[in-house]
Amino acid sequence: MNSDIEKILVSQEKIKETNVRLGKELTKDYADKNPLFVCILRGAAMFMMDLVKNVDIPIEYDFMDVSSYGGENTSTTGEVRILKDLDTPLSGRDVVIVEDIIDTGYTLDRLIELFKTRNAKSISIVSFLDKPARRIKHVHVDYVGVQIPDAFVVGYGMDFDEHYRNLPYVGVLKPEVYTTK
Ligand code: IMP
Repeated sequence: MNSDIEKILVSQEKIKETNVRLGKELTKDYADKNPLFVCILRGAAMFMMDLVKNVDIPIEYDFMDVSSYGGENTSTTGEVRILKDLDTPLSGRDVVIVEDIIDTGYTLDRLIELFKTRNAKSISIVSFLDKPARRIKHVHVDYVGVQIPDAFVVGYGMDFDEHYRNLPYVGVLKPEVYTTK
């Protein structure tokens, strides 16, 4: 698996540091709000579990599964399908959307619109990675972990064709891996 990686972009140490920093910011901003953290499956699962351990106030969390990319495609379609919806009502809640990476912005743009119709009291976004070079929809990300250049990355929950999610760091996949598969 490691041999398919061209270079490491975010090391395990940097991941830890980033979660501590984001956790502190969220702890300060959401004290007494009992926020609902919404993890966008499957990519954000690892990040979410590390992040919430660094948030030192009462919170709740729930999961939603959406799909924006086809199995073998590394470019966006602009389509966002809900594969698993939330179990928790959003009405009156302070919602924190937890994403692995914001790329074109389509996914978060659509989710924000949806959550507004469910009458969330407030909606903010925490994204572990931000790839600003590819943005099409200008979504405001309140908490950014690490900004990265325009490259297809895997690891720390992120996949190519459902693989590499279990790498403990974020790496750039060698282009020949996704052009030959
Ligand atoms: P967006 O809708 O284009 O912003 O894409 C968001 C989703 O696409 C993320 O939640 C990821 O699941 C996926 N994605 C975007 N870029 C990458 C990448 O470099 N590696 C793996 N998944 C990605």
